[in-house]
Formats: sequence, structure tokens, C-alpha cells
Amino acid sequence: MNKRKAASIMWRCVVAPVFIMVCIGALYVQPACALEDTAVKTLIVYYSRTGNTKTACEALQKELGCDILEIRDLKSRAGGWGFFTAALGSMFNTHTEIDPDHIDLAPYGAVVIGSPVWAGRPAASIRTFIAKHRFDGRKVIMFTTTNVFENKGSQSRTEKMVVQSGGRVAGYFQVAATEKINGEKTVRSRELIAQDAVKLASEIETVLKQ
Ligand SMILES: Cc1cc2nc3c(=O)[nH]c(=O)nc-3n(C[C@H](O)[C@H](O)[C@H](O)COP(=O)(O)O)c2cc1C
Repeated sequence: MNKRKAASIMWRCVVAPVFIMVCIGALYVQPACALEDTAVKTLIVYYSRTGNTKTACEALQKELGCDILEIRDLKSRAGGWGFFTAALGSMFNTHTEIDPDHIDLAPYGAVVIGSPVWAGRPAASIRTFIAKHRFDGRKVIMFTTTNVFENKGSQSRTEKMVVQSGGRVAGYFQVAATEKINGEKTVRSRELIAQDAVKLASEIETVLKQ
């Protein structure tokens, strides 16, 4: 076999098939990368009084790989009196003082707002955060932990708050803090709460990419 014939066979049997396979592979890889790129930069902002929302938001953050920031309520919500003022304030939809007072949302295209449910509304610090910030052009995702899942009325009350601040709620997600076992209301473990947050992560990611 002369050199020319050997080179031709080498081209047809090795180089060309490898080249074609690499091209086909690239076609499959490229859309996956493009999909990653469509997810907007996301910040999770949350408040937690007793740790459930913190657990859920931290688990979610690990899945989404986004930024996270905790808001503190400068009014003490500890103990029975704290519970009482929290519930009463929610019924009358009052605000509170928060730390940080202002969060720069400019780098973010989406904000996940994590909150416990207090008397059918987000916690005071979250109501204050929503009222003090503008969400124009941003996706807002509500992510609450609650004993009983919020009904449509409760969700739409929160959605109205977000709309008043220029945003729209693109998704509403809830994690149960209690469950009924043999008819008895039982507090769910932090592990189960974290697991539920992880389960919701892919749905939330889908909303972020839409
Ligand atoms: C003042 C107050 C009011 C609450 N109101 C409700 C409510 O209306 N519906 C509900 O299902 N859970 C309610 N809860 C329970 C909390 O939403 C739930 O335990 C939540 O997971 C607590 O989150 P945290 O540990 O992050 O503070 C209330 C809790 C507090 C402290």
C-alpha cells in the first residue's frame, strides 16, 4: 500500500469519524450551557424567628448556588410577648425596623423571599423589606415555611405587596413546619424541612429560567 492510499484510509476511517463525533457532541453540550446561562442572578433574602426558614433557605441556597442574605428584625420577637407582638402586628399589617435597612438589588434579576407565615402574612421584617425595596423588572419567588399551607387568599395578599413595590411573583413555594401523624399535629424535624427545600429547588430553578 502506498503512502497516499494509507493517508486516504486513515482520513476516512479515523480522522473524519472522530471529527463528526466531536461536532455531534458539541451540539449536545452547547444547549446545556446556554440553558445554564439563562438562569438570572438570584438572591435569597430571608427572615427566621425560630430557625425553620433559615434551615430551608440555606438548603435551597446550596442547591441553587446563589447569594443569600438574612434580615434581622430589630424588635425582639423572643418568648411569649414576642409571639404576641408578631401576631398582632401581622393582623394589622404593621412594619418594623430591619437590619440591613437597605439591600442593593441592582445585581439581581431574581429575588427569593424566605419567610415564616405570621397570621396569614409574611413576617413583619419581610413585609418591611418588600415595602422598602423596588422589584421592577425582577422575578420574585415567595418561599414560606408554615404550619398549615397558605391558601390562595393569603398568597394573593403577599403578591399584592410585591406588586405595590413594582414586582411580580413568578412562583410561590411552601415548606411545612408541622404535619399530622395519627391525627396529632407534630413538629417536623429540621432535616425534613431541609429535604423539602431541596426537593423544591428544581421547580424553583425552572421558574428562574423561564
Ligand atoms: C406570630 C406567629 C404567627 C404564626 N401564624 C401562623 C399562621 O397563620 N399559619 C401557620 O400555618 N403558621 C403560623 N405560624 C407558624 C410559623 O409560620 C412556622 O412555625 C414557621 O415555620 C416558623 O418559621 P421560623 O422558624 O423561620 O421562624 C406562626 C408563628 C408565629 C411566631
